[in-house]
Amino acid sequence: MRTKSSIYDCCIIELNKIHNRSGNITVIEGNIDIPFAVKRIYYLYDVPGGAERGGHSHKDLQQLIVAASGCFDIVLDDGKNKKVVELNRPYYGLHIVPGIWREIINFSSGAICLVLASHRYDKDDYIREYNNFTAFKNENSSII
Ligand code: TYD
Repeated sequence: MRTKSSIYDCCIIELNKIHNRSGNITVIEGNIDIPFAVKRIYYLYDVPGGAERGGHSHKDLQQLIVAASGCFDIVLDDGKNKKVVELNRPYYGLHIVPGIWREIINFSSGAICLVLASHRYDKDDYIREYNNFTAFKNENSSII
């Protein structure tokens, strides 16, 4: 799956929104609102103008990425196809399956990129060189 995964396996999940005149709440429960159990949450903030994040793939990690504040674009790449997803609402999450190269660009001022992750941090789960990523995607490519 991780070597065969495609950008078309990554989709926007519309999250619930509990309306209130004094503000809204969005609740995310692992394996209920999103298709994996959450083992780790982190968020990017104070991203300087023009900075780009990501620039890697994961072998096994799944993530849900939410623009908790502001907006940014996520470039998804499976080695064959690319697409750009804009996140700009705190009640939409992008589910990224394993084996997808991603870059996060065009951060607005004050943007907060909230990430829910299926595994604890493991540096060995990262593929940080694009050449290694394409080699990984081509592994077992002859096996149907
Ligand atoms: P990285 O995942 O490469 O950030 P991004 O994709 O946003 O550019 O992580 C940046 C640094 O932070 C890297 O040295 C590893 C460290 N880090 C942790 O120690 N634990 C974590 O859970 C995460 C996400 C990163």
